[in-house]
Amino acid sequence: MVKNDESIVIKNVEKRYYTDKGSVLALDNFNASIRKGEFVCLLGPSGCGKSTLLWALGGLHNVTKGEIIIDGSIVTKPRDDIGFVFQDNNLLPWRTIIKNVLLPFEIKNLDIKKYMDHINNLFKVTNLKGCENKYPAELSGGMQQRAAIIRALSCDPSLLLLDEPFGSLDALTKEEMHDLLLKLWHGTKKTICFVTHNIEEAVFLADRIFMMTPRPGHLQEIFNVDLPRPRKISTKTKTEFLNIVDNIRNAIGRSGDFLQ
Ligand SMILES: Nc1ncnc2c1ncn2[C@@H]1O[C@H](COP(=O)(O)OP(=O)(O)OP(=O)(O)O)[C@@H](O)[C@H]1O
Ligand SMILES: [Mg+2]
Repeated sequence: MVKNDESIVIKNVEKRYYTDKGSVLALDNFNASIRKGEFVCLLGPSGCGKSTLLWALGGLHNVTKGEIIIDGSIVTKPRDDIGFVFQDNNLLPWRTIIKNVLLPFEIKNLDIKKYMDHINNLFKVTNLKGCENKYPAELSGGMQQRAAIIRALSCDPSLLLLDEPFGSLDALTKEEMHDLLLKLWHGTKKTICFVTHNIEEAVFLADRIFMMTPRPGHLQEIFNVDLPRPRKISTKTKTEFLNIVDNIRNAIGRSGDFLQ
């Protein structure tokens, strides 16, 4: 039974990869649902199937059992109302930033004019105004990730999927990116599914954290993060924050499965 506020329902999902060396069961019997406008973090050890699940949510590959339902429709292919930020930023080095941002419009044959004000505003809020005609190599790592976020938001999607988008950034830049992402989310209330294997990052960002088991990944436990918003750097020193981090650490039994 799908409840009204459930924007995403993941039902009995299995994903098995077939290779010439045999098959790999990446996800097994994964069940969960995500509410409209919710910020969910998928947390789990390396190789547990986080990217696999995100790709399935984005319709970038099919599941081998079960189904994913978004706004009442079973996902079978990529949708125009989903933005994706990949594990590496995937900017094409031979295209300028604006041409990278506009690539999805070219692929989908969408009318760019309708979105230009929105895109210009994204350049402004991400502090990349003036970088439109630069090439990715001329930008820092943090700037490239911001450009990837602009590209993902350019079609004004209702669902944003982010796969460890800040994993390669230094600590200070990562904090700036968290702040930016939360501001964008507060302003638009898009549904966000954010993959990470960093517990503090998940607690700082999420409304709820879906903790996955090691491969084959399924949902081990859901943690509610009832910390007040807007969240600030000082949130990370609050007892409530540290308690949730501790609860999660205890749940994974300090097994060392999580790389920080
Ligand atoms: N195309 C593929 N073909 C075969 N096996 C794959 C393929 N993609 C992923 N896998 C395997 O599926 C499992 C889950 O991979 P996935 O990339 O989803 O993990 P992850 O949780 O995102 O890991 P990480 O945190 O390291 O990014 C791994 O064992 C991986 O080797
Ligand atoms: Mg991954």
